[in-house]
Amino acid sequence: MKIAVLPGDGIGPEVTAEAVAVLESLALPGLVLFSGDVGGAAYHRHGHPLPEETLAMAREADAVLFGAVGDPSCDTLERHLRPEQAILGLRKHLGLFANLRPARVFAGLEHLSPLRAGIAGGLDMLIVRELTGDVYFGAKGQRTTDSGEREGWDAMSYAESEVRRIAHVAFRAAQSAGLPLTSVDKANVLETSQLWRDVVVEVSAEYPEVALDHMYVDNAAMQVVSHPDRFGVVLTGNLFGDILSDLASAAVGSIGLLPSSSLGERQTAYGTFGLYEPIHGSAPDIAGQGKANPMATILSAAMMLRHSFGMEAEAARVEAAVARALADGILGGDLGGAHGTAAIGAAVRERL
Ligand code: NAD
Ligand code: IPM
Ligand code: MN
Repeated sequence: MKIAVLPGDGIGPEVTAEAVAVLESLALPGLVLFSGDVGGAAYHRHGHPLPEETLAMAREADAVLFGAVGDPSCDTLERHLRPEQAILGLRKHLGLFANLRPARVFAGLEHLSPLRAGIAGGLDMLIVRELTGDVYFGAKGQRTTDSGEREGWDAMSYAESEVRRIAHVAFRAAQSAGLPLTSVDKANVLETSQLWRDVVVEVSAEYPEVALDHMYVDNAAMQVVSHPDRFGVVLTGNLFGDILSDLASAAVGSIGLLPSSSLGERQTAYGTFGLYEPIHGSAPDIAGQGKANPMATILSAAMMLRHSFGMEAEAARVEAAVARALADGILGGDLGGAHGTAAIGAAVRERL
């Protein structure tokens, strides 16, 4: 069971180290970890944010554990050399079109949410975000208009096959969990969204037992913090899913708590090939200070055990250990506490 560990930039290496320590403490026979350079770290060392060797290592593995990429010193590079291209490239090259971002307030941990307890308790949703299309991967550029001013442009599009395959992922998730499905779009303004909505309705015919509704993204953002209990599975595109998942994480308590898995169609001998990463970035403002909360990355490792290695019991044990640590008041600065990265990691391992 080969895991490619790609720590990346900023707090990426700090949080990844704790998730690796959790995996190692489980002493799972047959688990082999190897690591590679990615992001700004790879650019500085190899002149490219996603070196060929790193991509080959990811392809070779059964799962990828990813930290974060992003380095302010690279923000003025040509776009194709910027650290963020590494994660976008991995998602695209590995065909990881389905990004699952579960956001839930654990029972008894309502106090970590900035929402009132009666509202926070109802927050338990799975965001299914399309990950390899949308305005992220369309043509883009800057040009000069006829009147001589500079203009930036990005093309947004979805092909129906792209909408259909992610819709199936979301409908299957809703069906197996017995949850309603909300498809989030901006069909009142965007043609991309109108096609999205039409295709989702077509796919829904195959899942008559799933209750489907549609919501505009602006309303959805408002409902996530006012009536989170009305969401079960949320299906949305790449850009809206990026924004809504950061919002949902803050409603849970912190972005340092939200894991994700990115899946495609490839099956390995053990399960579904996937890339697992916290939803947060490299957090340059706290990098190198031992302050980052590693829980999102530890929970991402749990998702890896579940989806890529079929180890449901071990995944649940890791999740329970994190929830127990939080209940015991092991809180990082992001949650108003004073525990550092290493102390949080150690506390989770103790509770395993
Ligand atoms: P960010 O998620 O890195 O940070 C936002 C805020 O949340 C910061 O104040 C940060 O300190 C805090 N934060 C994030 N993770 C935390 C954790 N685990 N514990 C405690 N606090 C945490 O977003 P940003 O500041 O907009 O972006 C920084 C860089 O990261 C940019 O270069 C961006 O492109 C990149 N980024 C990368 C990924 C990824 O690799 N998948 C995701 C998001 C952003
Ligand atoms: C995320 C990040 C990435 C995204 C960036 C770094 C490209 O924000 O994983 O949520 O926008 O998908
Ligand atoms: Mn994001």
